[in-house]
Amino acid sequence: MGLRISPSILSADFGQLTAECARVAAVADWIHVDVMDNHFVPNLTLGLPVVESLVKTVTTPIDCHLMIADPDRWAPGYAEVGAGSVTFHIEAAKSPKQIASDIRAQGARVGIALKPGTALEEYVDLLPHIDMLLIMTVEPGFGGQSFMADQMSKVRMARELIKAGDLSVWIQVDGGVSAATIQECADAGADTFVAGSAVYQSADPASVVSTLRELATAATNTSWWCAH
Ligand code: DX5
Ligand code: ZN
Repeated sequence: MGLRISPSILSADFGQLTAECARVAAVADWIHVDVMDNHFVPNLTLGLPVVESLVKTVTTPIDCHLMIADPDRWAPGYAEVGAGSVTFHIEAAKSPKQIASDIRAQGARVGIALKPGTALEEYVDLLPHIDMLLIMTVEPGFGGQSFMADQMSKVRMARELIKAGDLSVWIQVDGGVSAATIQECADAGADTFVAGSAVYQSADPASVVSTLRELATAATNTSWWCAH
């Protein structure tokens, strides 16, 4: 069972993003880029022109997490400029199936994200139309917050649904993921892990990514959902 580590550059030095991405290039599967518009979340980061530049200068594929109002209008553009994966929040979307189809039409993977207070049940019909489900383990908007262990029941439910439906949908967790919490995420059913402050507030980001991968692999191999 493959798993993926996607370091978030939200906690990196925004004055040298290409170099910050290069620090983990040898060990990271994706680079997670948090787009915040100060409408959907009370914080502002970066947008389309910066993602377009990163796609050209960073060798690792870009995993865009759009915390923006009106993803119907903006999300497909991130795929168009070359992001490998584009995830939008279901709470902000008017026509999620249309957005998913527009993103895929540009050759990117598509994800939907759920805030901690958003139940999975009402969006089960979307699972066959997406490539990744992002289950937030903090309120979106800021790095460095505490991991919400109560979201693990949602991760388990997602894994049960994906197994039962024989779907190839990745389950991503984002927020407070570190060496202290990644094992319980993997055990619950996550296979794609975002870590921001744990990676970029370390003196050796690459070694943190490697450690996270080892911990997640070990937990996955003994988990209820990964048959061996
Ligand atoms: C928060 C962002 C995260 C953030 C995670 O809204 O979506 O990607 O970078 O940061 P940590 O890992 O520090 O919780
Ligand atoms: Zn994120």
